[in-house]
Amino acid sequence: SSVVTYDWNVTWVWAAPDGFGRPVVGINGQWPCPSIEATVGDTVVVNLLNFLGNQTTGIHFHGINQIKTAEMDGPSGTTQCSVPPDTAVKYQFTVDAPGTYWYHSHDMGQYPDGFRGPLIVHDPADPFKGLYDEEHIMSITDWYHNDSITLVRGMLTPSNTVFRPPFPDTILVNDGQGFEINVTKGKTYRFRIINYAAIAAAMVNFGNLTMGVITSDASYVKNEAVSQLRIAPAQRHDILVTVGDQDAGNYPVLVGLDMNRDWTNSSGLSWQHNYTGHMVLDLSLPLLAAEPVDQWLPADDAFFKPYNDIAAYSPYDKLITLDFSFCLDQNGYPRSCFNDLTYISQQVPTLYSAATTNDSNTNPVVYGQVNPFIVDYGDTVQIVINNLDAAGHPFHLHGHQFQVLYRAASGFGPWPGDEGLPYAAHPPWRDVVAVMPNSYAVLRFHATNPGVWLFHCHVEWHVEMGLTATVIEAPDRLRDMPFPADHIEACRRMGIPYQGNA
Ligand code: C2O
Repeated sequence: SSVVTYDWNVTWVWAAPDGFGRPVVGINGQWPCPSIEATVGDTVVVNLLNFLGNQTTGIHFHGINQIKTAEMDGPSGTTQCSVPPDTAVKYQFTVDAPGTYWYHSHDMGQYPDGFRGPLIVHDPADPFKGLYDEEHIMSITDWYHNDSITLVRGMLTPSNTVFRPPFPDTILVNDGQGFEINVTKGKTYRFRIINYAAIAAAMVNFGNLTMGVITSDASYVKNEAVSQLRIAPAQRHDILVTVGDQDAGNYPVLVGLDMNRDWTNSSGLSWQHNYTGHMVLDLSLPLLAAEPVDQWLPADDAFFKPYNDIAAYSPYDKLITLDFSFCLDQNGYPRSCFNDLTYISQQVPTLYSAATTNDSNTNPVVYGQVNPFIVDYGDTVQIVINNLDAAGHPFHLHGHQFQVLYRAASGFGPWPGDEGLPYAAHPPWRDVVAVMPNSYAVLRFHATNPGVWLFHCHVEWHVEMGLTATVIEAPDRLRDMPFPADHIEACRRMGIPYQGNA
């Protein structure tokens, strides 16, 4: 294994990915942001220097478990302080599992301003190696002409009594560079599809070519043949697509955004911002636009068979039930709540609180209003999310891939209890689960990764409304843990007191 190092100055860049020019958050004067690429077992080092001048920042490595490096997870107020301008912070961690991941700012609702990119961990023991000839990344995102701070300010006003989030202006595929792949008859292509969106799920269809799904988030699945895929914000799927020996035409590839949240559409179904890409077999033939689809029937990824065949963890030791609803704070501002409590961003990172409160770090009271849940080392934890809202929401857990034992269909209301539910014997593994409207999902994981891990809706606008809980995992093992001197220096420059070990 080797060390892969990236030196990144985070800077404002002018970009017009859909023709509309605006400042975006780029790296070393470039946007789109570069990929991180490594091989299982490698150490990744990112030396980040905040050159934005006017904003704080920070990076989260989405889906990376951060085993023994909880302090490198990245969310501001959770595992580190925001990184102020002209301040450097080093991230260093091992990539322990292969897969398609991504990195993004986890500070101040900043990633919709463009600060995100792919993180690919290659696998020398890939079970699908040899089944494909080439690989490419397809990133999809909703895109906004306004900057995030303005959009969040517009959302968090007392007049927004319907909790209306910002709506995207357009869709970007590969950050505006598009998707046009020259293909050859008889060859198979691996596409790593990542949805970076701040709110919209994406639909993907390769015309009449079959997609063989080989990974979901960072876990292998058994090559599931599908014709339409739905990818919720922050989710990933790797697919294999084969061009037949007899094929002659060029394949339109259709990507649409789920704009169900466009409440002006009374049918509740609205696929907008459709983008057509192409698998180009014969340049002399026209590149036809894809037919827009308004009635998608995507494959249900909750039934994809996991490659590892690991049985459901059972029984569980600890139950965390999260009832999600929108709520108003005492001043009438729109918020999101778990169990009637909204998450309040912390100054002192929650992990630092766990490290500095000695024996009381098993008492949720020391953490403030972060919806803390304490789990013991080795616990099998069951999380039940009851989504009481009329729209679907993608929930993400840091620090783990989890088993999805069950995801109920739309409209089933809250979890009725374990009794009689058809839990999967060999459940799929994810780090983001799309919970259906007015419905629930049941997840399990093993608490063997001491740290402080967020659990939140990956609609970035809902994070800014407080739709977050915090898993305090094995706090007895976090006491007196040291933090890197540069991370502590970032706190000092932010004026945030820290009373622990360097
Ligand atoms: Cu993709 Cu809390 O993050």
